[in-house]
Amino acid sequence: MSHNNAKPYDNVLGLIGWTPLIRLNRVTRGIRTPVYGKADFFNPGGSVKDRIGMPIIEAAERAGKLKPGGTIVEGTSGNTGVGLAVAAALKGYKCIFTMPDKMSQEKVRLLKAFGAEVIITPTAVAYDHPDNYVMMAKRIAESTPNAILANQFYNQANPDAHYATTGPELWEQTDGKITHFVASAGTGGTLTGVGRYLKEKNPKIRIISGDPVGSILAELWRSKGENKQVGAPYKIEGVGQDKLPATLDLSLVDDYRTVSDRDSFAMARRLTRDEGLFVGGSSGLNTHVALQVAREVDDPEALVVTFLCDTGERYLSKLYNDEWMRENQLLEPDRVTLGDLLEHKGDGAPGAVVSAVPGQLVRQALGLMRLHNVSQLPVLEGNECIGSVTEYALTQRGLESSRFLDAVVSEVMDEPFPVIDASQHVESVQKLLSKATPAVIVRQDGAIAGIVTRSDMLAYLMNR
Ligand SMILES: Cc1ncc(COP(=O)(O)O)c(C=O)c1O
Repeated sequence: MSHNNAKPYDNVLGLIGWTPLIRLNRVTRGIRTPVYGKADFFNPGGSVKDRIGMPIIEAAERAGKLKPGGTIVEGTSGNTGVGLAVAAALKGYKCIFTMPDKMSQEKVRLLKAFGAEVIITPTAVAYDHPDNYVMMAKRIAESTPNAILANQFYNQANPDAHYATTGPELWEQTDGKITHFVASAGTGGTLTGVGRYLKEKNPKIRIISGDPVGSILAELWRSKGENKQVGAPYKIEGVGQDKLPATLDLSLVDDYRTVSDRDSFAMARRLTRDEGLFVGGSSGLNTHVALQVAREVDDPEALVVTFLCDTGERYLSKLYNDEWMRENQLLEPDRVTLGDLLEHKGDGAPGAVVSAVPGQLVRQALGLMRLHNVSQLPVLEGNECIGSVTEYALTQRGLESSRFLDAVVSEVMDEPFPVIDASQHVESVQKLLSKATPAVIVRQDGAIAGIVTRSDMLAYLMNR
């Protein structure tokens, strides 16, 4: 097979595999062990799953189960659907895919773009429930004439494809110097096929897997299959399971690490921003583990390979959408700025700050606070905060002497609120807010953009 594009291809299938191995340079700062990413998102269908489409179809043809004009059915989180659809298009087969409803809209549209029929099933059902996407695919395959179930969770053509391609590619690309391979398992096809090949080449190569919090695979490995734990929901797509797939050989795995959605997504975003590798959440999970391992190994002679499974384009509405990340409390806390907090305060009038002017009377200032249901006001002169008043202090003194109500604000006001730039992180401001500093003024591009009070900060902390 050609390693580059010097010659023309007969069709797009010739472009599957021989994906580049790319060194990670910036996310690895401070780590001596070299870490490389096997960039399977370079496959023409954008994911590792292109590798298994044609082998599964050809195995069914050889077994006489699939004849011209036939239909390929599969329960898929999306990427296998694309891999199968690309191969099916060139072979003239129809595709029907079932997919859990947690999968991104991009993936549904993508499969439809390839001409497949897509049936959405509920995510929140047990693996043996009739509405489960795998069960549903099985029923459709049984009741459709000349149809096969691709059956990626049981079909040995899946790990075999990785044994035949991904494993040898890694061996050759690293000149046999690879010491650690890190990949999480969905079906386990990648981990099993690559693990088997590499261990045969050199039994010292360590195969390390990552698992999303909520998946049962890591615990199954730790307990050597004894675990009775049930799965819990998580947001990463394509990896982790609530049942052991027949395509995953846990005995090949030397270490299993559990990783949160938050850490996985944060790492995927860093791979995009810092390395220019636009990848999905499972690649983030793998890389999070790979960096842990590289740090622990701490050896410039070692060679850690992480697996970059699919393209980030599949997740533009999810992990690359700050809104979705915030709704799911997945944004790293230190990345939330005062500007973000203002935007989400929901006071309906962005930029409009309720304020007093120096010449106003105390009773007018108190009236303003009541009207707008706030406990303090900045005193503004043009674009400058020159002082502040609080309901507590004004009420206290108003009760002592009602003449105070007719005093002028500039004569009775307290210190101005601190003015902070909108780019400051919320955490740094949290400590500033106290009884003496009930609010801060937020400045953006030289102008006052809003105010963040103690109660705004508390609301943010409670929702986080
Ligand atoms: C995004 C993504 N990452 C990783 C994987 C895991 O690959 P495998 O099924 O070979 O374990 C999949 C499989 O569906 C996937 O879709």
